[in-house]
Amino acid sequence: AATAEALLSHAAAIQTEAFSLSQFDADLTDTGFINVTLMKSNKTVAIPKGQSILSSLEQQGIKPNHGCRMGICNKCACNKAQGATRNLLNGAANQEPTQLLKICVNSAQSDLVIDL
Ligand code: FES
Repeated sequence: AATAEALLSHAAAIQTEAFSLSQFDADLTDTGFINVTLMKSNKTVAIPKGQSILSSLEQQGIKPNHGCRMGICNKCACNKAQGATRNLLNGAANQEPTQLLKICVNSAQSDLVIDL
């Protein structure tokens, strides 16, 4: 019985560890940089996580189309081919490929490929 107990507690420890690792993998922190590949411009730039993609690109000297900067006018929307983003207004994460992305109100959470 002692052995079984030891095994069980060992298994529990492994599970706890796996859980915290997967938490880490989800990586919802807002630090670090993300590579954004701009397909039309044929460029890849590194932008900080957790900031609007639009303003981050502007800081790199890129001037995407935009209007309101508030997620209303849709002028900044471009196609995202792949990558995870997070809506800065409501915190919603999006990892689906081929989505229309409003770059003024979304931040990059993983490397992105967008049609810009
Ligand atoms: S600039 Fe208006 S929705 Fe993004």
